[in-house]
Amino acid sequence: MADLDGAEDTKEYHVDVPQKTEGFYLKGCGNLDWGMKNRLGRVFNPVSGKTVMLAFDHGYFQGPTTGLERVDVSILPLEPYCDTLMVTRGILRSIIPPGTQKPIALRASGGPSILKELSNEQIAVDIDDAVRLNASALAVQVFIGGEYETQSVINMTRLVDAGIRAGIPVMAVTAVGKELARTPRYFRLATRMCAELGAHFIKTYYVEKEFETITSCCPVPIVIAGGKKLPEPDALKMCYNAIQQGAAGVDMGRNIFQAPNPVAMIQAVRAVVHGGETAEKAYQMYKDLGGT
Ligand code: R5P
Repeated sequence: MADLDGAEDTKEYHVDVPQKTEGFYLKGCGNLDWGMKNRLGRVFNPVSGKTVMLAFDHGYFQGPTTGLERVDVSILPLEPYCDTLMVTRGILRSIIPPGTQKPIALRASGGPSILKELSNEQIAVDIDDAVRLNASALAVQVFIGGEYETQSVINMTRLVDAGIRAGIPVMAVTAVGKELARTPRYFRLATRMCAELGAHFIKTYYVEKEFETITSCCPVPIVIAGGKKLPEPDALKMCYNAIQQGAAGVDMGRNIFQAPNPVAMIQAVRAVVHGGETAEKAYQMYKDLGGT
């Protein structure tokens, strides 16, 4: 009723101010729907365009691996320093406080344990449950060249279809079996296939040679996995090189939670990813924060 009392003269329509049409800061994501962009904007920092995802989903096929015996004890203290929590729904519901403001990258594939053929995964989360858990991304393993290559690719495309319906982006994780060589050629193939078939961003391994060719010919953002534990200066150097060569961040587990001082390590990783800090300065920061 308030508008009927003659207040029309006070309205300001700004007819001479063109409405801004914002672009979107993430590579290849400009044509996605609003909900997708909003969720990606929670995972990737809008200022730096990058992310430090903390991966602690390893138990879905490895059980209580070193550093993840008690997620409440080892991971919760790291939560304030990461941009995204990459986690299974079991750990999410049992351990992670629902009041967290961090976006969730939900592990959405699974099946075989380390005792079996790992590529024989299936989709392991219904999209309704991902929505219920307020997931900001879904993570699915893709085994290019693996025994169950096609099955894992179809897992991904089905999740992409479900994710598009719900507005949840899908991160394809390029898993490499022991029998496959980790070459630039392999990762160009695997990352590009995942992007072409609909993944919204890709997690892959860093390689010393030609990594910039992997990021350049993948049309969507790439984050790197940490892989097996390295000495802290080497892990920071890997982060630095990956960022300089076009990575949009890290999705790192063991090199953070297995470090002698994980809280110091994740802050050093942040400095490299978001601040462009060199590996040497970040390692000094690690030590200054109490790392040994
Ligand atoms: C492995 O399949 C899991 O999805 C991990 O999230 C992934 O390997 C990243 O962890 P890390 O940095 O320990 O390799």
